[in-house]
Amino acid sequence: MIPSDYDAVMALWEAADGVRPSLGDTPAGVTRFLERNPGLSLVAEEGGRLLGVVLCGHDGRRGYINHVAVAPAARRSGLGRRMVEACVKALAEQGIPRAHLFVVKGNERGAAFWRALGWFDRDDIDLMSIDTGG
Ligand SMILES: CC(C)(COP(=O)(O)OP(=O)(O)OC[C@H]1O[C@@H](n2cnc3c(N)ncnc32)[C@H](O)[C@@H]1OP(=O)(O)O)[C@@H](O)C(=O)NCCC(=O)NCCS
Repeated sequence: MIPSDYDAVMALWEAADGVRPSLGDTPAGVTRFLERNPGLSLVAEEGGRLLGVVLCGHDGRRGYINHVAVAPAARRSGLGRRMVEACVKALAEQGIPRAHLFVVKGNERGAAFWRALGWFDRDDIDLMSIDTGG
């Protein structure tokens, strides 16, 4: 993924029930994420049409995978799996031993996808957040 993919990627996210673009998902925010994590985020395209996207990065000790989406017509063909497995491999090659992701509550299809790929649920951690005003 490169910054100029932003508009098509945002359109895919907005159309994909289960992804919730949020604070930080501005063009500047996504560009900064890509620059801080070179080569880790992926898009899948066919004939110039965007079929899939995954944001992947790390902070030096943990990996993060965000906003995975596959266009409805391309689902259940293994594209999501291929993109995520490539990200996990790339994180391992950079020495990152574990990665996290967030699933919006109630996104059972998303959760089934992650479990099928070997990701495990956490019942020992609650997510907490703060808006910095920045
Ligand atoms: C979740 C999503 C990315 C999966 O992409 P995909 O390319 O269809 O997934 P794959 O074809 O690689 O599926 C891999 C495995 O995940 C599981 N899986 C995928 N979609 C599933 C669904 N709707 N219900 C149950 N299991 C599912 C299956 O085990 C599947 O293997 P199989 O097809 O051999 O049975 C896609 O459905 C999507 O974009 N959903 C909307 C956005 C979203 O919820 N993203 C996740 C945010 S946490």
